[in-house]
Amino acid sequence: MSQFSYQDGVLHAEGVSLAAIAAEHGTPTYVYSKAALLGNFASYADACRGRDALVCYAMKANSNLAILDLLARQGAGFDIVSGGELQRVLAAGGDPRKVIFSGVGKSVDEMRLALSHDILCFNVESIPELHRLNDVAGAMGKTARISLRVNPNVDPKTHPYIATGLKASKFGVAFDDALDTYRAAAALPHIDVAGIDCHIGSQLLDDQPLLEALDRLIELIDRLGDEGITLHHLDMGGGIGIDYREAGEAAPVPVGDYLGRVFARIDAWRAERYAGRPIKVIFEPGRSIVGDTGVLLTRVEFIKHGEEKNFCIVDAAMNDMARPALYQAWMDMQPVAQTAAESKTYDIVGPICESGDWLARDRDLAVEAGDLLVMHSAGAYGMTMASNYNTRGRAAEIIVDGATTHVIRRRETPAELYALESLIN
Ligand code: LLP
Repeated sequence: MSQFSYQDGVLHAEGVSLAAIAAEHGTPTYVYSKAALLGNFASYADACRGRDALVCYAMKANSNLAILDLLARQGAGFDIVSGGELQRVLAAGGDPRKVIFSGVGKSVDEMRLALSHDILCFNVESIPELHRLNDVAGAMGKTARISLRVNPNVDPKTHPYIATGLKASKFGVAFDDALDTYRAAAALPHIDVAGIDCHIGSQLLDDQPLLEALDRLIELIDRLGDEGITLHHLDMGGGIGIDYREAGEAAPVPVGDYLGRVFARIDAWRAERYAGRPIKVIFEPGRSIVGDTGVLLTRVEFIKHGEEKNFCIVDAAMNDMARPALYQAWMDMQPVAQTAAESKTYDIVGPICESGDWLARDRDLAVEAGDLLVMHSAGAYGMTMASNYNTRGRAAEIIVDGATTHVIRRRETPAELYALESLIN
């Protein structure tokens, strides 16, 4: 059930009117629903109940401390891609021993920080990374638990910018090199070979490619087992999509169905060939945890009728939400107040000096200057990809819990944007 619904003609987040939020806190503002967040996490947690499984939320999707804290309290671990993200986990009170560290370019300092907090696992993506990690761990008198990110070479059938498991991708170790890389890892003194992982892409509506990837990982675990290299966990990565509701687009597979199919395959394999040996299953969902829990609330500044197009100029821009400009992503936009007025077709654009600064194109809307709009499903890869381009302070963030609103990030001021800069003599 969506936590964003019209009540008396005005869009609400849970029990709070978005018009009231705009009046009190201004725009542009990200507004999240706590109930939606906990509900999405519960879809994963419920499907994992009674299993040896861990959900490591991919915090690149949304790394606000309040969101991390709410998820940590539900037992979530975290998938991080930088030392900065680890510091956020610590600041939010998350457990570093439930952290896995992904990414192709981990620095020495990031490895040190992660080792000093005894994180669960490094998802290693290359042989040079393996050697660097071995050296760093050795110098600290520690052993690093690792998993290899294997590139299963399956087509995720998503946007090329967010497909990551194909041969031409910079990510992971090629499937055909995986055995050799595991052998090399097993021979290193400060490396503890713990698992295997993959991440084939994002916004996948169908789980078939993920299940194909799982089959390939299982094949490798079997072959490694034959050589005496025993793995203890299998990490499926993230990738399950959400319903952005573009007309004609298929609905995403329900999380519970996908996890059910993963566990069924794993159970069958263990019963048949893996002699009941324990294997923990890890998931790294980002978008499917936070995507539909947030909207971007914005106000119409002007209506402009151009020669060929009508423009609805709003106070949110590509610096607040980059997905349309970056991926031509289709995001649903709706007025906060329902009206019976006649609609026109608009491009909804921001104030930034770039033609690419648009949020939605060719949308039928009945709007006037001063009206409020929302962009739906803006909770993932919205605020985390925001920038200060054009010296625009980033949006405020608010979470609604029933009838209560909490500001979880206040709006930036211009002075804060240049506070780190200095003049030369
Ligand atoms: N694990 C790894 C290693 C990843 O690289 C990612 C996302 C995830 C997990 C989480 O994937 P999800 O469950 O959210 O699909 N900015 C793009 C999406 C980039 C995804 C990058 N990796 C967008 O706005 O569509």
